[in-house]
Amino acid sequence: MPVATTSATPSLSVHQRALRSNVVKKAIMAVTGLVLITFLLFHMFGNLKMFVDAEAYNHYASWLHDDILYPILPHGWFIWIFRVVLLACLVGHVYCAASLWRAARHARSSKYVHAAHRPEQTYAARTMRVGGVILLLLVIFHLLMFTTRSVQIGFDSASTPYEMMIGAFSLENWWVVLIYAIFVGVVCMHVRHGFWSAFTTLGANVGPNARIALNCLAYFVAVLLFVGFMLPPVAIMFGMVN
Ligand code: HEM
Repeated sequence: MPVATTSATPSLSVHQRALRSNVVKKAIMAVTGLVLITFLLFHMFGNLKMFVDAEAYNHYASWLHDDILYPILPHGWFIWIFRVVLLACLVGHVYCAASLWRAARHARSSKYVHAAHRPEQTYAARTMRVGGVILLLLVIFHLLMFTTRSVQIGFDSASTPYEMMIGAFSLENWWVVLIYAIFVGVVCMHVRHGFWSAFTTLGANVGPNARIALNCLAYFVAVLLFVGFMLPPVAIMFGMVN
């Protein structure tokens, strides 16, 4: 039987287009989020070099800045390519998050949508947004401290990367360790939900077993990151590394 076309058809296609653009934005959020989580895992393992000795850590820091992919690339090129990719992922992730949030808010407040069909704003979604903003502020503080060294707490411009870590997280700067615990805690809560959401968007959440596996994996990655990131500051603060 031929399907009757009605005057509602054009508005349906607008709706479909909006839906498709939301699916694309969710996919961009998933892929960029997973790239950022991969970076975090490498960063966390890199920081653990602290426990070898000062020379190993300083060597790792200088390799990171100058020697990755050398001689395929000239000295110091990789770090800039890597920074551009990281920044592009961050901008794409935040832009899509803001845009999806605006669309959901619009749908919730639309008088043309029956109350029963309005999308619910879950607790996780709300905390992801607030967490994301806090995270951005803490990342800026972190970069000002350790990358540009504009905020110097317990170290100066002449300090080696190892001395910088030891100085920043010494017992007298216990409050820096506290700020980092909050920073890493917020990161890990964001990662826990984000990891689960990303794989769900990419189609991995296909049944009850997959759901349990994804949940366990998301908690595992979040706890691994928290413990791995906090080990060096806590060990330094308690004088176990010097
Ligand atoms: C206790 C936890 C952390 C410690 C001790 C730490 C330490 C450091 C240090 C020492 C650097 C400078 C590396 C160098 O230039 O030689 C750095 C860079 C960086 N960290 Fe962290 N970090 C921690 C957690 C995080 C977290 C949770 C994030 C992201 C949410 C993050 C993102 C970055 C970024 C983007 C850079 C700049 C990389 C670059 O472009 O040079 N860090 N971190």
